[in-house]
Amino acid sequence: MGRFKTERDHDYYKTVDDAINAYTWAAIVKIQERRVIDEVLGPIGQGKEAKIVLAKRQNVYVVLKIFYPTSNRFARRHSYILGDPRFRRLKISDQLHLVETWCRKEFGNLARAHAAGVKTPKPFDFYRNVLVMEFIGVGTTPAPRLIDVGLENLGEQTFYQVLRDLEKTYIVAGLVHSDLSPFNVLYDGESTWIIDWGSAVRRGHPKELEYLKRDVEKIVQFFKKPIDPTQLFQKIVERGRERHIEVDDEGWVLVRGRRITEDI
Ligand SMILES: Nc1ncnc2c1ncn2[C@@H]1O[C@H](COP(=O)(O)OP(=O)(O)OP(=O)(O)O)[C@@H](O)[C@H]1O
Ligand SMILES: [Mg+2]
Repeated sequence: MGRFKTERDHDYYKTVDDAINAYTWAAIVKIQERRVIDEVLGPIGQGKEAKIVLAKRQNVYVVLKIFYPTSNRFARRHSYILGDPRFRRLKISDQLHLVETWCRKEFGNLARAHAAGVKTPKPFDFYRNVLVMEFIGVGTTPAPRLIDVGLENLGEQTFYQVLRDLEKTYIVAGLVHSDLSPFNVLYDGESTWIIDWGSAVRRGHPKELEYLKRDVEKIVQFFKKPIDPTQLFQKIVERGRERHIEVDDEGWVLVRGRRITEDI
């Protein structure tokens, strides 16, 4: 049977909101104390699970990705807990713990991908539910996503930049992004930047291949390439098994001296 919201619910949610705001604010103060950032400027973007806030670090713009402790995504992911009426009032501390884990995971994935030479925002630090990373954009305007730019306004090289980084993510970083799509790639007019690494998994994860295949399919589909996504996926997996890997001066993975583009 359904349940109507009551006065007490309202009080409960207000208490939760206040607690989360205080918690997030304390995290930002901590990051400032660590001198990771000097100044917080204001919100510039919003996702389903986080707010993106512009800040300054040594006179350069950076962004704070502030994860919402009550995001739907967590609710979905943890539906076995949050969806269960017995746990409807999951303790705030548990919600905060989930969100901190997610933030730490995104930081770790970003650091790994960035170190492998994948074009992603450089991560600087994180504390609790706040992640600090490089700002991608011009002036204070964030770079648009591929989906906002539209295929007709993207040059031929764009597909190859994404393919190069998709392969490098798998082979050099040893990760699968797992949420790759034109919604999670920014375009600054020249280069593509892969963002939103919270879902990425390490190679060896039981669903590694399923996720990699889906990432490849979404990219091939968006760029409307006359390429069989299954074959491309298989090619990447096959190349990923090789032991002698190099990266050329344009950032392409070389397997036995060959770029993937020479074989598709
Ligand atoms: N480093 C950055 N530089 C500039 N803009 C950014 C940056 N990171 C994120 N953004 C902007 O904020 C939006 C949300 O970021 P992101 O995709 O990481 O959040 P999310 O909540 O995980 O998203 P989703 O809605 O896909 O779950 C992006 O689509 C982009 O427009
Ligand atoms: Mg996103």
